[in-house]
Amino acid sequence: MQDRILVIDLGSNQNTDIAREIRSLGVFSEIHPHDLSEESLAALPNVKGIILNGGPNRVVDGVTIDASEAIYDSGLPILKVDHQEGPKWSPDLAKRREQIRMFIFDICQAEADWNVDNFIKEQVAAIREQVGDKQVLLALSGGVDSSVVAALLIKAIGNQLTCVHVNHGLLRKGEPEQVVEVFGKKLDANLVYVDAVDRFLDKLAGVADPEQKRKINGEEFIRVFEEEARKLDGVEFLAQGTIYPDIIESGTKTVKAVKSHHNVGGLPDDLQFELVEPLNMLFKDEVRACGDALGLPHDMVYRQPFPGPGLGVRCLGAITRDRLEAVRESDAILREEFARAGLAGKVWQYFTAVPDFKSVGVKDDARSFEWPVIIRAVNTVDAMTASIEPLPYELLAKLTYRMTHEVKGINRVLYDLTPKPVGTIEWE
Ligand code: XMP
Repeated sequence: MQDRILVIDLGSNQNTDIAREIRSLGVFSEIHPHDLSEESLAALPNVKGIILNGGPNRVVDGVTIDASEAIYDSGLPILKVDHQEGPKWSPDLAKRREQIRMFIFDICQAEADWNVDNFIKEQVAAIREQVGDKQVLLALSGGVDSSVVAALLIKAIGNQLTCVHVNHGLLRKGEPEQVVEVFGKKLDANLVYVDAVDRFLDKLAGVADPEQKRKINGEEFIRVFEEEARKLDGVEFLAQGTIYPDIIESGTKTVKAVKSHHNVGGLPDDLQFELVEPLNMLFKDEVRACGDALGLPHDMVYRQPFPGPGLGVRCLGAITRDRLEAVRESDAILREEFARAGLAGKVWQYFTAVPDFKSVGVKDDARSFEWPVIIRAVNTVDAMTASIEPLPYELLAKLTYRMTHEVKGINRVLYDLTPKPVGTIEWE
């Protein structure tokens, strides 16, 4: 069992940075609220030291918060840091790393045993212990998190896991096929592939409002998943790809929620499962490292972020099948050319959108009346703000040529130069 260092949230906005820094030094670290109880603390194995991380949000509802007595009485080494009083983190990141290094290794004597292989070994044992000989269900979208959960569970419990892949018709080109190839064939998982394309597109037909599109998508997903779950006998557990930022962003005692933690909620009462969430202590880069170690394909593990409603919010306005294909094909060309230009891992998110209006052009010596493709390529740290990737002109010219010649229904290509704010990353 790995050693751990606790970061106690006393209103710092560097809790995540400090925990990540400790992990990068090879020691497991997690963030806890200031009022951690004696029982909760006792339930955490191998705690070697505690950092009381004070900061600007220390006054909550008019009261300056402090760590609980259980923390002070624990007898564990404590490092107290605050921006108002007492020792502070050095603003120089190399010096801050040294402060952390001295505390965790010299004072706490923690062992640097936090790595992916140990994590996988521990989780395999923990999953087996939690699940026993029972059946587990997983909604496998093929995104990074659900794919890594699937691979980890297959390693731990093999065919006690059933993966349900719902193809709602809004996935990128080649994605449903890759899920079948990797999980159904290579990893020989119990994979239920649900072709729900018609069902989703029929429900979405004529719906132009972005939020309404999202709502229909989410609800229909739950209905399809529910139907599949009812067909399976004796499932007691539901696995989910919840990761640590999902939990942190759900809000702490000193900072309000950034977003609510979205999971497969909304299932009916008679279909409630116990959750299996083996990645809920990992940051995204650690999830990726885990996927690598489990042998998943590189492009699956290093995939750029993709919105839950998929290409549906990039086929602007009311979705039609022909325009959706234009989004999918232009997106595939964009990804191919980005990879060829060495930009695939460098640009945070890039995609195409196709609006529901047409313009006049000339194709094969005849008048054409077709849609434009909009190219978007942005960089960001946290998706709250984003800047534009300045794409080379030659690349833009090549994309324009290919999209107007290879994608049915397209006669113009536009490059969106709007940062966030004022635009959002997606168009809907
Ligand atoms: P915006 O468009 O709000 O997007 O600047 C920020 C990031 O979130 C993704 N996004 C979504 N992800 N469900 C998701 O899971 C959604 O409905 C959704 N809408 C936007 C977007 O791709 C970007 O990475």
